[in-house]
This record gives sequence, C-alpha cells and structure tokens, in this order.
Amino acid sequence: MIRLRHLTKTFETSQGNLEVLKGISLDINEGEIFGIIGLSGAGKSTLIRCINFLEKPTDGEIIFDGMNMGDLSRKELLKVRQSMGMIFQSFNLLAQRTALKNILYPLEIANVPKEEAMDRARELLELVGLSDKANAYPSQLSGGQQQRVAIARALATNPKVLLCDEVTSALDPNTTSSILQLLQNINHTFGVTIVMITHEMKVIEQICTQVAVIDGGNIIETGNVKDVFLRPQSEIAKQLILPKGSEIHNMTGKRCLRLIFDGNSAFEPIISNMALECRAVVNILYANTKCIDNKAFGEMLLQLPDDDISIERILAYLDNREIYYKEEELHV
Ligand SMILES: Nc1ncnc2c1ncn2[C@@H]1O[C@H](COP(=O)(O)OP(=O)(O)OP(=O)(O)O)[C@@H](O)[C@H]1O
Ligand SMILES: [Mg+2]
Repeated sequence: MIRLRHLTKTFETSQGNLEVLKGISLDINEGEIFGIIGLSGAGKSTLIRCINFLEKPTDGEIIFDGMNMGDLSRKELLKVRQSMGMIFQSFNLLAQRTALKNILYPLEIANVPKEEAMDRARELLELVGLSDKANAYPSQLSGGQQQRVAIARALATNPKVLLCDEVTSALDPNTTSSILQLLQNINHTFGVTIVMITHEMKVIEQICTQVAVIDGGNIIETGNVKDVFLRPQSEIAKQLILPKGSEIHNMTGKRCLRLIFDGNSAFEPIISNMALECRAVVNILYANTKCIDNKAFGEMLLQLPDDDISIERILAYLDNREIYYKEEELHV
C-alpha cells in the first residue's frame, strides 16, 4: 500500500545542509499497524511528513496505492491527502471550534453536503465515544478526549491510511492504552492501515504488527514485532527494547534453564504454577518477558534445584505446556 524507495531528505540550514533521511526503503502493507520506533532526533517526524508530502522528499520515491506521489499535480496531491489522515502528539484541534465542528472541518473542505457532513460527524463522535461532548470546545476536553476528536476528524474523509506521530506521548498510561485500543478497533473494523511513529516500545507492543527501527536517518532493523522484539540485532533496537541493566552479570549456580516464550503460550503465572505443581523451588536469575496481545514473549533464565527428580518434573511440566527451553552452562 505504501512503498518508500531510497527516500532522502536534506534540510538547508544556516549551518549548512542537514541530511535527515538517508535512503529509506520500506513496504507498508494494507491493513497493517506498522510501527516506526527510534530515539529523539532519529528522523521519525520528518519521515512521516514525507509520506504524505507535507515535507517534499529530496530524493527517492513514495508509491501510495500504486501512485508515485512525486508525479502528482498539486490538485491530485490534495485529493490523495484526503485518503491519508494524520494525527499528532499535540492534537492540533481548532480552539475556536467545538468538537463536532472540528470533525466537520475536513468535510467542509471536501465540499460534502451539509446534512451528510453533519450525519458523518455525529457518527464519528459516537465511534470515538464522545457523543455527549459535541458542543464542548477543546479547552473543555481532557487530553485523551481531544485526541479522540482528532482521530474522528482524521477519519472524516474515510482515509485508507492513518499516519500517527507520537499520538500518545502526551497522555498518561491508562489514556494511552484506551487510545491505542481505539486505533486498533478502527484498524480491525474499517481495515484502515496505520503508521505509528513512537519512541515508546509499549506502543509497538500493544498494537503493532510490524516494526521498523530508525536511527540517524536510516532504517536499521525491520520485521514483525515478534521477531524484532525477541531478537533485536542492533544496539539501538536493544536499547529501545530491552529493559535497562538486563545483562546477566556474575551469576552463580549449577544447572540452569533458559525458557523462551515465543507467543505460543498465554501469559499465565507459569513459574509460580510450575513451583506449585512440581513442588520445586526455582530461582529466577534473569527475566525479560513481555505480554503482547495476551501472549508471552521473551526469555527467562532459571536456576534449577539440586535434585534430579525435581528437575525431571520441571522439564515435563514445560514440555507439557510446549514452552521451549534449553539447558545452559553457567559461568561463575
Ligand atoms: N524543517 C527543518 N529544518 C531543519 N532541520 C530540521 C527540520 N525538521 C527537522 N529537522 C532536523 O531533523 C532531525 C530529525 O528531526 P525529526 O523531527 O524528524 O526527529 P524525530 O525522530 O521526530 O524526533 P522526536 O522523537 O524528538 O520527535 C533533527 O535533527 C531536527 O533538528
Ligand atoms: Mg518527532
């Protein structure tokens, strides 16, 4: 649906040229929730602004729905932009307009007949759960509510793609979660492709299917969330994904087991159940597990008890649950 080919962007500044995107190629397929994660200054906002030509790329191609965006006339570009909704960290609502009138705004620009526009706007308010706030001004709404209005406004023209730039960065964790859930519903219900720019791993974990890691204007890693999350290759990806201080230092012990959670098991308290069922005490030496879509991912290093019978019970328990493990040597 969106293909980026060798995309570059150089800004001319008073200090000379600044090459912010250095040849980005990416494929975003229809219906995906595609996350792009990177540290501050990596070029994320520039990239997403290039996708809808808010920022004209210096070189390279953006193919959207088979059209080369660089070949479009201004008029055609405006039309294509209607099928690319955009939302931002700072909501960007029009302060003088009520929630309903903010949503009406893009419909007015698209010359949708008044009555039809009004019906559509009310329907969207309901979709984002704010029917009772139609006449509230942005200053009378919470951050989460403002972002809901912004999402409704972005959906007004029935876009095929929603471009989201740090849309939850100004929100608390609970509100973040509910906004992400809303975006996921929109993706499932209407098949809208979503591009999520973020510096927060939890955003990627909660809703993205694919992820690309951007650093210094280059894509340094890309793949499905599971793969990149389980085995981040680059230093930056590790820094973003793995919790701080997660390296294993100076461990002692005898027999040791590494468990790999690859999404096959639901996230139940595996270790405490294991201890109960096997009547064996294990020591968690290291864990880096996360829950994505109610499935467990990551790995855990366990120090096993001394007696062989307990160990056999533990291995049988893990086999039974199809949890992958391998025994490891520990270096003292
Ligand atoms: N219009 C511009 N003119 C000159 N330099 C710019 C312009 N826009 C962005 N930059 C520079 O490009 C680099 C990347 O900026 P960008 O906003 O894309 O980063 P980002 O990854 O979105 O960061 P953040 O996570 O902080 O939002 C920065 O060094 C920034 O100063
Ligand atoms: Mg940014």
